Amino acid sequence: MSRLDSAIRRLEAQRACLDHAARLIETVPGPVVELGLGNGRSYDHLRTLLPAREIFAFDRQIDAHPDCVPDARHLVLGDFKDTLPTALRRIGAGAALVHADTGTGESQRNAKLAAWLSPRLVAITTAGGVIISDQELVGIKAAPLPLPKGVAAGRYFLYRAG
Ligand SMILES: C[S@@+](CC[C@H](N)C(=O)[O-])C[C@H]1O[C@@H](n2cnc3c(N)ncnc32)[C@H](O)[C@@H]1O
Repeated sequence: MSRLDSAIRRLEAQRACLDHAARLIETVPGPVVELGLGNGRSYDHLRTLLPAREIFAFDRQIDAHPDCVPDARHLVLGDFKDTLPTALRRIGAGAALVHADTGTGESQRNAKLAAWLSPRLVAITTAGGVIISDQELVGIKAAPLPLPKGVAAGRYFLYRAG
């Protein structure tokens, strides 16, 4: 598979998981967390899917399309290692949905960050809330959920917080 095919499949899987998770959290109260604002694409998709939810976006820098930069209250700038430990205070309540899109082309770095993030993502998610991640989470108390139709195993990861 070419890298272009792989990128397209990753984005299709991401969109399918975001759409699916938006339905799964219909009755779950709480804000949404976007971890990795990046270009702002998935943030923009989330705010289109969930217009009534508060969405907090985390990143170390602003690199998003100007239309996709959250207001100052909903943008948390800094390294995750500095911003996540106090994230619950910032977002005000456990998140109904956390989307972690933090990967780069470096698999070792991705695995290391995913291991660090895993318990911290669960800690900011309300009971019954959903975590979507581009990396597999490890050693967490959250049940893996089936992927939506058409998403190959291992391409994206979905969990329900206990
Ligand atoms: C794949 S991009 C996100 C793409 C974005 N979700 C979109 O749809 O446009 C990953 C983002 O995570 C951010 N990131 C990665 N590691 C981070 C860290 N340790 N602390 C803060 N931000 C980090 C990067 O700056 C980058 O913008």
